[in-house]
Amino acid sequence: MLNSHYPYYLASEAVYANQDLEVTNKFTQEVATRVALADAEAIDRAIAAAHQAQPAMAALAPYERQAVLDHCVKRFSERADELARALCIEAGKPIKDARGEVSRLIDTFRIASEESVRINGEVINLQISARARGYQGMTKKVPIGPCSFISPFNFPLNLAAHKVAPAIAAGCTFVLKPASRTPVGALIIGEVLAETGLPKGAFSILPCSRDGADLFTTDERLKLLSFTGSPDVGWALKAKAGKKPVVLELGGNAACIVDADADIDDATDRIIVGAYYQSGQSCISVQRLLVHQSIYAEFKATYVKKVAALVAGDPADENTFIGPMISESEAKRLQGWIEDAVAAGANLLCGGQREGAMLQAAVLENVPVSCDVNAEEAFGPVSVLSGFDSFEQALDEVNNSRYGLQAGIFTRDIYKAHMAWDKLEVGGVVIGDVPSWRVDNMPYGGVKDSGLGREGIRYAIEDMTETRLMVLRTPERG
Ligand code: SIN
Repeated sequence: MLNSHYPYYLASEAVYANQDLEVTNKFTQEVATRVALADAEAIDRAIAAAHQAQPAMAALAPYERQAVLDHCVKRFSERADELARALCIEAGKPIKDARGEVSRLIDTFRIASEESVRINGEVINLQISARARGYQGMTKKVPIGPCSFISPFNFPLNLAAHKVAPAIAAGCTFVLKPASRTPVGALIIGEVLAETGLPKGAFSILPCSRDGADLFTTDERLKLLSFTGSPDVGWALKAKAGKKPVVLELGGNAACIVDADADIDDATDRIIVGAYYQSGQSCISVQRLLVHQSIYAEFKATYVKKVAALVAGDPADENTFIGPMISESEAKRLQGWIEDAVAAGANLLCGGQREGAMLQAAVLENVPVSCDVNAEEAFGPVSVLSGFDSFEQALDEVNNSRYGLQAGIFTRDIYKAHMAWDKLEVGGVVIGDVPSWRVDNMPYGGVKDSGLGREGIRYAIEDMTETRLMVLRTPERG
């Protein structure tokens, strides 16, 4: 169960504000709790505190940062059940998926704890010509400074953790704006951080309306902006971010190729998880499914039968696979895309009916490539099936998208695996599994409209640190 009211965290302290934000249970649509809502003045104070606390944060020794991260691992493990139930309510995430996200949250902090004590520099021999005789260089990594983080609704804990945990490891203070529809997970992270020895002011976690949130992007005291969310919003923020570097983890219309030698039973089981878990609300959810013509009919029959059998309903029920989408308006938007595709000549093979925010898992085929449900990010429970004759043609079709986050390939042919790895314009290629597969220490991020930069702790730490060089001249003696 949720508390009736949650504070926000301003300069490391819990604050109950004058204004609240209602958070609904995404299945029942009832108000489940209220959280304190920050205004522009609170955000300004948070940024000032992060700026002031930065020297103290940078001065923490690696083992001290590690102790903070280890405390988080311990407390999240102790509070795992409460965290999973919070996700289930605020995001409508089926309880099994919610537990999975909590275990990933713990992984993410554990990886950050390990990385925090191995942020190293190098020694460079600078003697490349006579004038550099006796010179050597040494580099170290220094924190970039106060960071600005904006996290999305679909993984309220773990995608906030992918910003917060590396920032602590790197020695950066931060301000975080969690998604307004799912702020509770991030506020519980705040509650746990407030138990640690982080310098006062080192962190703020502030639910706020989009209008009031401009400072997260524009304020020059913030030295990095890291945003996870929709492509349109992300690229618009980058245009307003001024001199600070920007990391964008945006969306996609991920493709999965099933080649002629795939095991159909295994591939359909994996693809159903990749396409429909948490109602397809993942940036790497399988959306476009390309199946070799020689197995197309058998694949389609098996796949559609399994999709139609998915259990939909109350996310708190242990047997539920498909819960609600984040809102009725999002479910309506995607239902409209499915109807548009059918009007343009597509066949709806199953699903597509809607009740409130519950949209039945849908499979389409013969979808014209320009239809939104194929070309844009669906971010919901739908997949689009098509056949191919040659593997090269399938790779071209995957690349025929403005997005490029991850792709999945079911093949047993190592040469085709390498060809895909060479040719696909994506941030990651997953062989033998779905594009939706992710573990939290791998580099994760996209190309094209899917974003800029990589997360995955070690990679995020690179963005959150600067290389600082020292040159040492040793005069020749005697
Ligand atoms: C995302 O939706 O971008 C993240 C997917 C994941 O972490 O599994």
